[in-house]
Amino acid sequence: MAASPPLPGRRLCRAVSMVTPPPLQAATLGRALYGAATAMLRPPRLSPGPPRRFAATAAGRGRRLLLSTPIFYANGPPHIGHLYSALLADALHRHRGLELGGPGRLCTGTDEHGLKIQQAATAVGTSPPELCQRISGLFRQVFTQAAISFTDFIRTSEPRHKQAVRHFWGALQNGGALYKGCYEGWYCTPEECFLPESQLAERRDAQGLPCKVSLESGHQVHWTKEENYMFRLSAFRDPLRNWLRDNPCAISPEPFYQRTLRWLEEDLPDLSVSRERSRLQWGIPVPSDSTQTIYVWVDALVNYLSVLGYPETHSEWWPAAHHVVGKDILKFHAIYWPALLMAAGLAPPERILVHSHWTVHGQKMSKSLGNVIDPLACMEQFTVDGFRYFLLRQGVPDRDCDYYDEKVVKLLNSELADALGGLLNRSTALSINPSNSYPRFSESCFPKVLDYRETKGTGRASAEDYEFLASVASLPVQVATYFESFQVYKALECIALCVRQTNGFFQRHKPWKLDRKDPAEQLWLDTIIHVTLECLRVYGTLLQPVIPHTADKLLSRLAVEPEERGLSGLTFLPRYDGKPCPFEGRQLGPDTGVLFRKLERSQQQQAKTKSSCP
Ligand code: MSP
Repeated sequence: MAASPPLPGRRLCRAVSMVTPPPLQAATLGRALYGAATAMLRPPRLSPGPPRRFAATAAGRGRRLLLSTPIFYANGPPHIGHLYSALLADALHRHRGLELGGPGRLCTGTDEHGLKIQQAATAVGTSPPELCQRISGLFRQVFTQAAISFTDFIRTSEPRHKQAVRHFWGALQNGGALYKGCYEGWYCTPEECFLPESQLAERRDAQGLPCKVSLESGHQVHWTKEENYMFRLSAFRDPLRNWLRDNPCAISPEPFYQRTLRWLEEDLPDLSVSRERSRLQWGIPVPSDSTQTIYVWVDALVNYLSVLGYPETHSEWWPAAHHVVGKDILKFHAIYWPALLMAAGLAPPERILVHSHWTVHGQKMSKSLGNVIDPLACMEQFTVDGFRYFLLRQGVPDRDCDYYDEKVVKLLNSELADALGGLLNRSTALSINPSNSYPRFSESCFPKVLDYRETKGTGRASAEDYEFLASVASLPVQVATYFESFQVYKALECIALCVRQTNGFFQRHKPWKLDRKDPAEQLWLDTIIHVTLECLRVYGTLLQPVIPHTADKLLSRLAVEPEERGLSGLTFLPRYDGKPCPFEGRQLGPDTGVLFRKLERSQQQQAKTKSSCP
């Protein structure tokens, strides 16, 4: 129930339980806690053996993964920030699929329970199920349109999810991780959590009365007192620290890993994990206590297991999970979720990949400011691949990025239309390649050397050309490393740099000026085009996770068959190493259309801040 704010001078409760939790009973814990997590939950004095550590399973590339996006609140339509979360997960999923030659899993969906949704439905005069049905449909539509390769779309209102949540709750309860307590503190409905005093600021509300707001989101908080089930989060400080110490890559980028460690130095109060049903009806009831509703964050986090068929079939995949999340929900994923999992006898996820936020013209995106950018309008204006490229090329996970139309137009025109599209156009022009085929490479023009700085000048290639060749040859590994370290923008930066170098190579040797009637010149001309097409083949292959349609067009034009587009067998310019090139002599694909159409500056002004009402 909601209570009145505390009287001035009264010591404020920082979102902690007001009752002393019942002591952990060794007998209960020993009986109920599952496997490895058992040792991790017990306080040290109760733990007879050394605690087991949760290390990542076989690390690195070469394994199937479960990638996930957060599940999105079904209280308003998708915006570009949501799409960014999904795009990052999609690019990683596609990249891993191309490395392994087969699909993994990418799960997304909508978070449909809680006060926030209940209130949003009331505000627009509809019921929560009707609102969720509509908004969930919008997310599915945007993600489908944006070519997000999701393999599962979960809604927390689905029976399979509710069943998983109930089972998970049972595992927590049987493990002795829950107790009932009276709880009071400042509750922030939009964030769906209690906030400690340190995360609050004083403001005035619309009537000019003093109120408190969340420092993070700016939303007003309300003093709330009720009886809840509590989760013994405080018992997990050491297990969480150990997990992070043993898995330094568990949270990326590094600043977010450090932030999580700092949280573990601070207060770690037990967590309220249910709400009185009288206050919150739109949610999953606590099994065997119909007066309580399961806290929406516990409900939502379990989605990562329900998509795997928890409690029956999840172990085929779990814990090979990589969660992509925004920085605002880091604590839920990096502290609460791993602790809940351990308490339920499961290992924490393998990795949590964190990104920052998009602002618009320097301002936070918000319904009240009316600056929420509609991703469908963006994709219509800049094309699906154009907008995917922009968000992934400009979005830097460690810091917030600013959106404005001019930036999109400038980037896409320069990197996709001019540099990449122009290169394909120039190197496949009938005027220099009348046979419209993949020409031959000549070793005599471009002889293999051990050290390009010591070329004896036997061929036609310059030291700069050898340097450029070395950059492209190392590109696939560089790109893979950046994808692995969740720096997709850096992978794209490297590709863009190589595309620029290839244009430089083409421009330097001016193949259109070579005399095709002279056999020696013809050999060199063919070699220049062969090298250029080889570069384009590498770029097309590496760009597939980011701009799938454009990459397909590019690779089809180069006559690269679908089974030749994987990453594991990607070799650049095999002829330089004296190996056969399967493409040499092949007829090029028939589609000679423009790879990426240049955007007009006048196209910039279209309205994209459509109504964001639910
Ligand atoms: N429902 C919870 C997540 C539960 S996951 C078990 C939630 N939903 S959300 O719709 O508010 O946010 C979903 C994702 O969108 C989060 O990763 C969040 O960081 C991201 N973004 C929301 N606004 C954003 C920007 N302005 N920019 C980038 N991403 C943003 O939180």
